[in-house]
Amino acid sequence: ALVSMRELLDHAATHNYAIPAFNVNNLEQVQAIMEAAKETGAPVIMQASAGARKYAGEHFLKHLIQAAVESYPTIPVVMHQDHGQSPAVCQGAIDLGFSSVMMDGSLEADGKTIASYEYNVEVTRKVVDLAHKLGVTVEGELGCLGSLETMQGDKEDGHGTDAIMTREQLLTDPEQAADFVKRTQLDALAIAIGTSHGAYKFTRKPTGDILAIDRIKEIHARIPNTHLVMHGSSAVPQELLAAINQYGGKMAQTWGVPVEEVQRAIPFGVRKVNIDTDIRMAMTAAVRKFMFENPEKFDAREWLKPAREAAKQLCKQRYIEFGCEGRA
Ligand code: G3H
Ligand code: 13P
Ligand code: ZN
Repeated sequence: ALVSMRELLDHAATHNYAIPAFNVNNLEQVQAIMEAAKETGAPVIMQASAGARKYAGEHFLKHLIQAAVESYPTIPVVMHQDHGQSPAVCQGAIDLGFSSVMMDGSLEADGKTIASYEYNVEVTRKVVDLAHKLGVTVEGELGCLGSLETMQGDKEDGHGTDAIMTREQLLTDPEQAADFVKRTQLDALAIAIGTSHGAYKFTRKPTGDILAIDRIKEIHARIPNTHLVMHGSSAVPQELLAAINQYGGKMAQTWGVPVEEVQRAIPFGVRKVNIDTDIRMAMTAAVRKFMFENPEKFDAREWLKPAREAAKQLCKQRYIEFGCEGRA
């Protein structure tokens, strides 16, 4: 059944686990997530980014997720809009039937100018007003995603800023977070702790100076009843990087957010963990290997099958690691 995100995150808070929120763009990713959830007994959060809407079209995304709900009637599914850039975009998703929306007011509606705090409060409050009337959950964001190694903002797919920022801009302030939650009444808060979107997050295995898990503790101490969201939380598994490069890929050496760091954050209010890059890498590694080993094959189903299977394994792993097993 389609459920509100609030319901799932409240359950996760009561039982101290986190739910991976997987980005979806096509049929095979939706199927992979549902099979992984079925095999582990996990609840599902599927999210569509602006890039996904551009790639697949919002009607295809809506009906793919609805098809998942119909095919797996006993699994609770959240249909979430990732990184909405304005109240109008969020309203559009709600009109389409999304059960949860993110109003990302950390940037202005152009998707690149760093927004003022007052702007962020205003647009987020506006979305809460229109969403809560309809039982739709709202995620907001405070602080700018970006690297504490280069001090550069996160610019992914035309969305974001690559401006050089201060450490304070790149880390969510706990006092401001408390004020933000009070004034907006949002359900879930995305925080900035040194993670960024995509595969190139860290140049080395991250330590506390560049991945500020301790900041989460400070935020949680201030707003213990607010569900926290970690964006840019793919682990960028070294074995997937190696497999991609072994079969003809050319990805540079890089590090993501180690799963054990996410696990360390779960007792401090992290309830939603966004993952896109890991699924991309799992599918790419599987397709590259298949193509390399089967140069004579040309039926798209034949190479999409191992890609879907690899995505499923990755999702199962995260469901188990974040404590979702048997929670649905
Ligand atoms: O928000 C970032 C997600 O990884 C989605 O990226 O806009 O390329 O679909 P995308
Ligand atoms: P990754 O790029 O680390 O998978 O993050 C995805 C994300 O935060 C989507 O909002
Ligand atoms: Zn994100």
